[in-house]
Amino acid sequence: EEEDEKTLRSPICCIMGHVDTGKTKLLDCIRRTNVQEGEAGGITQQIGATYIPAENIRERTKELKADAKLDVPGLLVIDTPGHESFKNLRSRGSGLCDIAILVVDIMHGLEPQTIESINLLRMRNTEFIVALNKVDRLYGWKTCRNAPIGKAMKQQSKDVQLEFDHRVTQIITQFKEQGLNTELYNKNKDRGETYSIVPTSAISGEGIPEMLLLLIQWAQKTMIEKLTYSSEIQCTVLEVKVIEGLGTTIDVVLVNGVLHEGDEIVVCGFQGPIHTTIRSLLTPHPMKELRVKGQYIHYKEIKAAQGIKITAQNLEHAVAGTSLYVVGPDDDVEEIKESVMDDMRNVMSRIDKSGEGVYVQASTLGSLEALLEFLKTPAAYIDNLKEEKKKEAAEDAVFPCVLQIMPNCVFNKKDPIVLGVDVKEGVLKIGTPICIPQRDFIDIGRISSIENNHK
Ligand code: GTP
Ligand code: NA
Ligand code: MG
Repeated sequence: EEEDEKTLRSPICCIMGHVDTGKTKLLDCIRRTNVQEGEAGGITQQIGATYIPAENIRERTKELKADAKLDVPGLLVIDTPGHESFKNLRSRGSGLCDIAILVVDIMHGLEPQTIESINLLRMRNTEFIVALNKVDRLYGWKTCRNAPIGKAMKQQSKDVQLEFDHRVTQIITQFKEQGLNTELYNKNKDRGETYSIVPTSAISGEGIPEMLLLLIQWAQKTMIEKLTYSSEIQCTVLEVKVIEGLGTTIDVVLVNGVLHEGDEIVVCGFQGPIHTTIRSLLTPHPMKELRVKGQYIHYKEIKAAQGIKITAQNLEHAVAGTSLYVVGPDDDVEEIKESVMDDMRNVMSRIDKSGEGVYVQASTLGSLEALLEFLKTPAAYIDNLKEEKKKEAAEDAVFPCVLQIMPNCVFNKKDPIVLGVDVKEGVLKIGTPICIPQRDFIDIGRISSIENNHK
């Protein structure tokens, strides 16, 4: 028991930033996976979680000879979408994490969702490091696969180094305009006040060693108290998903405590509190993404911090983003049911159900929330129209409010119906893919039904 008190849990690290800065690709590089290429439109639409064991971090950082003393069992990384529609998911992800990686594209500098991410992190006083990604795009870059960035920079020509310095200086200025002091990690003498920038390439792996080392060192140095394992359950539902063969499941992040097979749990549901029993506790293999269907490991019990898939009965109407509670022997179930519904009241206050509009259905609540946000901003698609069509479209367009929400419908693979908004026509139309500015096409969470109920 004494021993247990001193145990550290894995830090939870959220990866945030503007769309297409390379967040998922950086994780792919660490995991040696290829999740990004399997994403619809190359866009992340759900929160993901990956467990990186300490031994993998040790292996990836060994060339630095920093003798990384790892007191934590590993790192739990939460991937978030950068697309503007998914602010809710960025907020959900950043709300969970101990530390974050803010990814900035070295060729683009700070972009709108970079700034939004900074503000989310600031709001919660979350420490972060900046990954200045895509250094391989500097003209004339010489690839040094998976090398420390310090070593890779020495291999570069004078021209590459000049362009690099120039871009870094500009980006540091942009951060300053946001009220943040940043500095290259190897020049940063004042880590408490100044955020470190690590140049990286997610394609050829330069800088990944320093990025991992910095995260772990910083977490271990400044967050011991926060990372000290506590047996009090702290658990958040990330996503609610139907999985073939498993039924409706919830993906959760267990921040503290232990979950057991057979535990009695209460989660927030659209139609009231859901009181059920954990049927199985599953995780992907280490270094694999929870949101990608694959082989699962079954557990009798599992300790924080972990990303876990839970199967249980009656999860169909569970609400992502809310807390999961375990009913202990001395707990009053009714009291717990009351507190889970506090979360619900929060979510529902953001949804308009005034009776006229369209019927929207998506396969995850995360996608549904994002789609609703998108549909609420008619300008988003009207802007794409030719001038003469604009006025007409503004009059005809149906701007939805929600009549009914069915977050967890089963998507029929044999007969896929992709339904959505036709941007060219400017009206909601059944049978056409959803379009979103900056992208020609996005399959936003496999929309399975959208019906025009407009009179
Ligand atoms: P969202 O999750 O949709 O916000 O995007 P993301 O930040 O996860 O970016 P993603 O990993 O999807 O990468 C976007 C594109 O940039 C892909 O085409 C990647 O191959 C490319 N990319 C990512 N990192 C690098 C990099 O370091 N170098 C180069 N050259 N391309 C990169
Ligand atoms: Na992307
Ligand atoms: Mg991504």
